[in-house]
Amino acid sequence: MHFKTPLRLLKRWFLLYREVFLDGRRFLSAVPFHGVEKGNGETYLEGAIIRQYHVVEKGLAMPEFRPGFGVSMVRALIKDLEKWKALGLEVNEQFAAGQAVLRAYRDRHAQIGFDLEGLFDGVELEDDCHSGTGGAREFRPLTPDFREAFEHVCRSRASVRTFDPEKIPKRQQILEAIALASRAPSVCNRQTARAHVYTGPAVQELLKFQNGNRGFGHRVPLLFVVTSDLRLFTGVDERYQGWIDGGMFAMLLLLALHAQGLGAVALNWSVKNRSDVALRKAGQIPSHERIIMLIGCGYPEEGAMVPVSQRRPAEKMVRFHGEIS
Ligand SMILES: Cc1cc2nc3c(=O)[nH]c(=O)nc-3n(C[C@H](O)[C@H](O)[C@H](O)COP(=O)(O)O)c2cc1C
Repeated sequence: MHFKTPLRLLKRWFLLYREVFLDGRRFLSAVPFHGVEKGNGETYLEGAIIRQYHVVEKGLAMPEFRPGFGVSMVRALIKDLEKWKALGLEVNEQFAAGQAVLRAYRDRHAQIGFDLEGLFDGVELEDDCHSGTGGAREFRPLTPDFREAFEHVCRSRASVRTFDPEKIPKRQQILEAIALASRAPSVCNRQTARAHVYTGPAVQELLKFQNGNRGFGHRVPLLFVVTSDLRLFTGVDERYQGWIDGGMFAMLLLLALHAQGLGAVALNWSVKNRSDVALRKAGQIPSHERIIMLIGCGYPEEGAMVPVSQRRPAEKMVRFHGEIS
């Protein structure tokens, strides 16, 4: 009896450290530290471009405009966009955003007659092929009608576990829901979240690795595996960012699926690395993506029941620090 407790404790410590080590190892092998491009130069470069244009874009939207701000960031952005072109990479929406932000920066300074001392000399900025791609825009608060609609969406969503197994959501619905979920905030707008979508026999094959779908998993017609692409992170400080950004994306995806008239249930991925490896093998999920959670999805069966799931009152969740009327 005396020996059992410390031994059990030791085992728990060992398990914890082993899993944390394995989590860390996955992060380290995906993240290109200090610009070391571990065979994924394109993704890393895209991450750098987004980080840089994000800083400049933010500067353009600050309450007090500081002429000449962020020159070193602008230089880095110019250099990386040129590198992108030199590598012959696709002129995608992130490249277009980078260019649009540079144009907005240059034009804003030109408007106030601020001399950027040749910062843009020899820099070719293509015409905007994607309208409203980058820069600053006016923020418009929601009008009361929309506030009410949003409240309704939030309050009516519930985890649905009773699906019509024969009715498969349409590709377009999934794309629209993902497009809405892409509006989730993410660190420096890097948008690392990815959604793997499975239908057919793969759903049951993958659900075998998940421990929270007993009693309803067999009727799930479509499954998401939400992941975060770790290659877009920069270093140790961002070791947990994948879970955070991926989690925020997943929340918005749940709401967006609800708005599409679909039912969805988040399914935990609180597992040891051994199960994680098994799921990624079965689902063809690359090693540089962190699995955040699974989501079962489909049409709710007519008259489907959901748990009430009582919430804590806001007063019990909030901790005010400071005067507020
Ligand atoms: C990350 C996460 C993991 C979850 N995992 C499971 C699960 O494995 N099985 C399940 O039936 N429900 C799961 N749920 C759903 C919760 O039980 C549910 O969100 C909670 O009880 C509140 O109910 P509601 O979503 O209907 O508001 C999960 C929810 C989250 C956010």
